[in-house]
Amino acid sequence: MQENKYDFGMIGLGVMGSNLLLNMADHGFSVIGYDTNPEKTKALEASATKDTNVKGVNSLKEMIAKLKTPRKLMMLVPAGKPVDSVIGDLKPLMEKGDIIIDGGNSHYTDTIKRINELKDIGFHFMGIGISGGEEGARKGPSIMPGGDEEAYKEVEPILKAVSAKVNGEPCVGYLGHDAAGHYVKMVHNGIEYAIMQLISECYDLMHHGLGLSNKELHDVFKDWDNGDLKSFLLEITATIFDKKDDKTGNDLVDMVLDKAGAKGTGKWTSQSGLDLPMPIPTIDSAVMMRNLSSLIDERKEAATIYNTNPKAIDIDKKQFILQLRDAFYFASLISYAQGLSMLTSASQELKMDIPLPEVVSVWRGGCIIRSALLDQFKNAYEKPELTNLLLDKNIATLIKKKESGVQKIVSIAAMHNYPAAGFMASLNYYNAYRRKLLPTNLIQAQRDFFGAHTYQRIDEDGIFHTEWETKSETCLLYTSD
Ligand code: 6PG
Repeated sequence: MQENKYDFGMIGLGVMGSNLLLNMADHGFSVIGYDTNPEKTKALEASATKDTNVKGVNSLKEMIAKLKTPRKLMMLVPAGKPVDSVIGDLKPLMEKGDIIIDGGNSHYTDTIKRINELKDIGFHFMGIGISGGEEGARKGPSIMPGGDEEAYKEVEPILKAVSAKVNGEPCVGYLGHDAAGHYVKMVHNGIEYAIMQLISECYDLMHHGLGLSNKELHDVFKDWDNGDLKSFLLEITATIFDKKDDKTGNDLVDMVLDKAGAKGTGKWTSQSGLDLPMPIPTIDSAVMMRNLSSLIDERKEAATIYNTNPKAIDIDKKQFILQLRDAFYFASLISYAQGLSMLTSASQELKMDIPLPEVVSVWRGGCIIRSALLDQFKNAYEKPELTNLLLDKNIATLIKKKESGVQKIVSIAAMHNYPAAGFMASLNYYNAYRRKLLPTNLIQAQRDFFGAHTYQRIDEDGIFHTEWETKSETCLLYTSD
């Protein structure tokens, strides 16, 4: 008789950890949760659905002893030092072949280090991205696993059971080697930042530009959250405009300070985009706007110096909102295109073998960036060689239809003093990406002028350098082969 009886263990019983464990229990798995705080373990047991097998303990040793082998356990603790500290506590307690999962938003380079360190002593360490917030964890998140494929197979039945489902398909799948799971989750969050930024720009233009009330904004976002644009972020946005403040009775959104925080995943996406290098300007602009929003005192001072409040946008409201919807469609699609092309590049550069069709499939349900748009991308990524969504003919047809909307919105925003950073970055990316010829020949000539950085020619193979100020001949330094 096997003494160890639990299928899965969780370290860290915050709302996410507890909810995920309860979700597993609802799907017939016996689960055990560990937390130093007895209140949390008691609360876990109290929240369990009748006839499910859920236990809470305050001793890590006890939890390890009560797990079936090979042990499968996840930690949901803050990224950084807490993860290393849990690993340190686990090492003497676990046995070869056991599987330790980090389900938090850890930096992918930390995950690579931890995988290698633990592989050397016989443990499987997996970085798994989990999206969907508290409700997602309880009812069905999107799950992005990466790492050792053998270990994934061991936990796959549990992850499949608890994940969100779209048309009966689970929103989980093996997403590649090493830290692929955490890398994909990081890029998911970068796209999340971009789309949130775009929605905030729509809000700004409609509220301060057109003068729409919060009730009207609720109606517009509710209307957009339909058909080809249906998405979680539009759905919650509509709900936000409907919420009253308990303290004042005002609309709550008006009482929230205009300063957006960030835990780091958006910044990491931008940093990794620069390192690859892969251009992801809509995501970068979203990170930048959160940072700029924090400069509240400076913004106040600048507002008095420049005295240039955004102007009222005095044009047909219905027409403008239709154009804004097209612009939002366009820029959202561009945000996904940037994130997915970054994944394609990172997959090769960092040797993670990320299956893009699987990523798109996993993002269709449960996660924060779930959207009806993902269905279109799923078809596009059926061609595995696709490097950028914009190179798919069907996507090109869609985007061309929305082009004039974003052009109008960007020009109106600029003329009326609105900082539409996300829309502008998306349009710039599109305009540059679809150009056969860019003015970067001049930049390369300048680099060669002042730094002898050399250049390539359009009519001949090889690497050239010119003494630009003298009459000396251009010289061929070496041929490309
Ligand atoms: C999710 C979210 C989740 C979290 C973000 C918020 O997918 O469920 O992305 O991971 O809410 O980390 O990030 P910021 O605090 O940086 O906005």
